[in-house]
Amino acid sequence: MKDASPQTVYLKDYTPFGFTVDEVELTFRLAPSATRVLSKIRFSPNPDAPDRHFFLHGENLKPVSTRIDGAEITPRHVEGGIEMDAPDTPFTFEAEVEIDPAANTALEGLYISGGMYCTQCEAEGFRKITWYPDRPDVMAPFSVRIEGDVPVMLSNGNPGASGPGFAEWHDPWPKPAYLFALVAGDLRNHPDTFTTMSGKTVDLNIWVRPGDEGKCAFGMEALKKSMTWDEKVYGREYDLDLFNIVAVDDFNMGAMENKGLNIFNSSCVLASPETATDANFERIEAIIAHEYFHNWTGNRITCRDWFQLCLKEGLTVFRDSQFIADMRSAPVKRIEDVIALRARQFREDNGPLAHPVRPQSFVEINNFYTATVYEKGAELIGMLKTLVGDAAYARALDLYFTRHDGDAATIEDWLKVFEDATGRDLSQFKRWYDDAGTPRLSVSDDFGDGRYTLTFRQHTPPTPGQSDKAPRVIPIAVGLLGPNGDEVLPTTVLEMTEPEQSFTFDGLTAKPVPSILRGFSAPVILDHASDNATRAFLLAHDTDPFNRWQAGHDLALDCLIAMIRDGAAPDAGYLDALHRLIRDDEQDPAFRALALGLPSQDELAQTLHDHGHTPDPQAIWEALETLKQARAQAFHDTATRLYAQYQVDAPYAPDATQSAARSLANAAMAMLTRLDGGTLAQKQFDSADNMTQQLSALSALISAGRGDDAVRRFHEQWNHDRLVIDKWFSVQIANAPPDKTAETAETLTRHPDFTIRNPNRFRATLGALTMNPAGFHHASGKGYALLADHLIALDPLNPQTTARMCTAFETWRRYDSDRQALIEAELHRILATPNLSGDTTEMITRILG
Ligand code: PHE
Ligand code: ZN
Repeated sequence: MKDASPQTVYLKDYTPFGFTVDEVELTFRLAPSATRVLSKIRFSPNPDAPDRHFFLHGENLKPVSTRIDGAEITPRHVEGGIEMDAPDTPFTFEAEVEIDPAANTALEGLYISGGMYCTQCEAEGFRKITWYPDRPDVMAPFSVRIEGDVPVMLSNGNPGASGPGFAEWHDPWPKPAYLFALVAGDLRNHPDTFTTMSGKTVDLNIWVRPGDEGKCAFGMEALKKSMTWDEKVYGREYDLDLFNIVAVDDFNMGAMENKGLNIFNSSCVLASPETATDANFERIEAIIAHEYFHNWTGNRITCRDWFQLCLKEGLTVFRDSQFIADMRSAPVKRIEDVIALRARQFREDNGPLAHPVRPQSFVEINNFYTATVYEKGAELIGMLKTLVGDAAYARALDLYFTRHDGDAATIEDWLKVFEDATGRDLSQFKRWYDDAGTPRLSVSDDFGDGRYTLTFRQHTPPTPGQSDKAPRVIPIAVGLLGPNGDEVLPTTVLEMTEPEQSFTFDGLTAKPVPSILRGFSAPVILDHASDNATRAFLLAHDTDPFNRWQAGHDLALDCLIAMIRDGAAPDAGYLDALHRLIRDDEQDPAFRALALGLPSQDELAQTLHDHGHTPDPQAIWEALETLKQARAQAFHDTATRLYAQYQVDAPYAPDATQSAARSLANAAMAMLTRLDGGTLAQKQFDSADNMTQQLSALSALISAGRGDDAVRRFHEQWNHDRLVIDKWFSVQIANAPPDKTAETAETLTRHPDFTIRNPNRFRATLGALTMNPAGFHHASGKGYALLADHLIALDPLNPQTTARMCTAFETWRRYDSDRQALIEAELHRILATPNLSGDTTEMITRILG
């Protein structure tokens, strides 16, 4: 049976499956190219279903035998699976199939990575393992027996009998097939235990390939912290005797929350100070937490269908952000999250791939694991919490867990819980789930007789398939500052529900300076005409750290836009305000490092486009270079002092305090490298004893054109470590000048360490190319052609990773006609490839619009 040909699935067509599954027993006889899977499944007619059509999904399965109640039967093979006549009483379905894990390069279903068997079943991968109703609303307890000549054999749940050549597992919690997992290989574990709030002891393990044992300690601490936090903050206790994490090298995504057996991309769990950067450590902490938190928000309460994906993902991203805010710095985490949201989700929402947080239809569900579903989905939870307040949020969540434990739920269920817990009507709020597009919020103000009025207007531009949008409810957190910088109105949440709405504040003695959308209280584009003096004032005085950062960001953005559009010189007011901030040692070093960040090339391109200009990627890059050079000159003495003052003498720790110091010192180093040609960076590279220091020095040296020797030595030093070599690939491409980027990437694709079969390596190379906009969009078109060549090569092996990376082209309509023509030609070339996957076909078609 071949893959099902692509068809559009609609939310409105949902119907329950005709049968319930009471029990699943699976036996795996492992062999690399001919694994046998035996299944025994107890079905009962489902009284809630409209019909008893007995269809089981299955893809690329070699049938051996099929039985119903012990009698051999011959199923009808249909598109995407098999169908049979089924009894109208409970019955047992048994099947044996053969699959070929060694040939599975798509990394979905059962495959082999680095000699180890592993599975990935979300969203629809279980059907590549055996015949099954592979849909999240069919839940069952699983018993698994694994047979093979393999030292370690793991599956979900609690361990049962085991002996030479076999291991048995039982998962008592009914689960959908997408949470099934199996891992088998020569693995080493990093063990620990955790005592839950009711006093149960849980065994914890991180399983890795031999040699990686020394990179597990941080992940284990993160896991224990996550378990404690979920008990304290959400009252959620772990529910099995054992929790396993496995690191695999070949993985399409970050990690997967399989019940009791989380499987991680090794880049998202393995870390040591020598091999991982501060940013890697923070990301690992967040992903470990994310997957662990899914045990309740995803597993105990799962999704009725894949349209409800944001039910588990939005909520779980929100929870992992709360966790990181608690473990580290809440303001820093919020600023980082908003930077990422704008870079990925706003970009998506303003282009041809825009879709609602809960889509109404899809072709390939794998293409909907997006920033909109995840990150915007999380923003919606944050807005709900802001609107109802912390206490009501806690009540609503308690109700959600008690009412829906064991359910496959919907967004309607989720919102109903909030309505029941608070008495609020959330029908207008629901538009956030149903309507795509980022609302634009504009503001004007008025002052007289001690009364200050803020007037807001909201408008959401059309998105594919949705032309008119009704107004949404927008929580706008505002504060007011008096002329001397004192706060005259602390943070207050205004609830906007109309297309245009005014709010007044009385009893003021002077016209205040407003601080609007504090904490980024809603995922909107705020259009607030303001002058540099006001922004500098907010940067100095706002009590809301997010808006202080935003004020600095807006100053930089305006300065850059004027440079690009009008050929202006770097704005002295911006340089002054920033300099005052970074030399003030009363200020949090993490905040100062963030303030030294600049708008991305992509944000500048979008901003120019929004203002009616055609962005020129080369001009954007040059303006950024000019500004960075001007900052380096203006801040030279301060940078020299900061660099010395914020060196960390204590032994390396990946905590918030140390990483803040390092990021400020390394921002200073990057500036100083522009003036000393790389002497300081070379010194840091030579003496670095951790990856944060080593890699930041390396990227500074490459940017300065002085990286050749360091690049060679870095490879020599790390050629045994796949994750570090990924960094080696990307750092060269990320820091190449625009006219050398495609060439650098192309040369690296011919390096013996390059392979398109490992998604991390592919992303480190081709992904790095797409994240260097001036290089990728170089007028020669070489960047486009190189990416297209590799997407065409990867598609037959790994459609999922290919389709994801097509998003590099999603902004194509904002560029000039020459670039548009070049990109369009590449998109058509990809589309014309014989046997192109459904995943990639869908993405390219949508991007072409
Ligand atoms: N569900 C995973 C997560 O968010 C992501 C994932 C999706 C992984 C699909 C693999 C395949 O944690
Ligand atoms: Zn998730």
